[in-house]
Amino acid sequence: MTGRRADGYHLLQTAFRFIDLQDTLHIATRDDGRITRINDIPGVPEDDDLVIRAARSLQAATGCTLGAEIELVKNIPMGGGLGGGSSDAASVLLALNRLWDCGLTREQLMELALPLGADVPVFVFGRNAFAEGVGEQLSPLSLPPRWYVIVQPDASVPTPEIFRAPELTRDSAPVRIADFSGSSTSSSLKNDLEPVAFARFPEVARIAGVVNEVLANGMQSNVLSPGRKVRMSGSGACLFVECDTPEQASWAVEQIAGRMRQRSNAEGSNAESAAVEESMTDLP
Ligand code: C5P
Repeated sequence: MTGRRADGYHLLQTAFRFIDLQDTLHIATRDDGRITRINDIPGVPEDDDLVIRAARSLQAATGCTLGAEIELVKNIPMGGGLGGGSSDAASVLLALNRLWDCGLTREQLMELALPLGADVPVFVFGRNAFAEGVGEQLSPLSLPPRWYVIVQPDASVPTPEIFRAPELTRDSAPVRIADFSGSSTSSSLKNDLEPVAFARFPEVARIAGVVNEVLANGMQSNVLSPGRKVRMSGSGACLFVECDTPEQASWAVEQIAGRMRQRSNAEGSNAESAAVEESMTDLP
């Protein structure tokens, strides 16, 4: 975080990395101009859904008289800091721009995307990016392929609370795009939101501790490359581990899932306290 605007939004420098974890959207046009979501998503009323708001904003901006019927099949954890809802909204803008034949450029769609959320433009941009401003000033970022283990702690972290926290570091030294080129998680880089989320949501910190123990074992036995450390995605609660090979990622998934099972058995509960998932980067 390098500053704060008068409207409360933060100036930041961050890397957005695309991975192959995805939701599915089915979209059909309607002649009557109505925009509807046909499936129920617990916790996300239709009118609040970013996909509906994205469609309405494109309709309003272009004066299009067509509508849309949208089915959104969620697979990306919701409220996990992985950008699932934002990528769904961006996909709706891109898809309806074609289906409605609006003819907006990618840049125009990125402008429409920003009021929907600071991280919606990058999903219209559509490739790994170095972001500045509030997240909308984007430069292409070339990153080598990597494999990610995503761990979802059983905690819901509200993004506004983390950004509003008085203890949040808002004057980090600026970084350059080159600092991200080898790895999006190099040890010289940090996520200023992480210590705030860890302090306020101890379950997230606890799971991060368990994952770091697994990584330490893996590095000691040379299964993992040196310098592995769990990181938080965005404002959390999801955590991730960056791996160099699919074998390393599979090893980490197995070990972390094993530790979670041990923990839940020890606590006399059948519920796992975190879900573990493996994902590959989607190049570029
Ligand atoms: O724009 P979006 O709806 O994704 O923002 C969610 C929350 O995160 C808002 O409360 C906003 O104030 C905060 N935020 C911020 N600075 C950013 C991005 C988001 O303060 N660059």
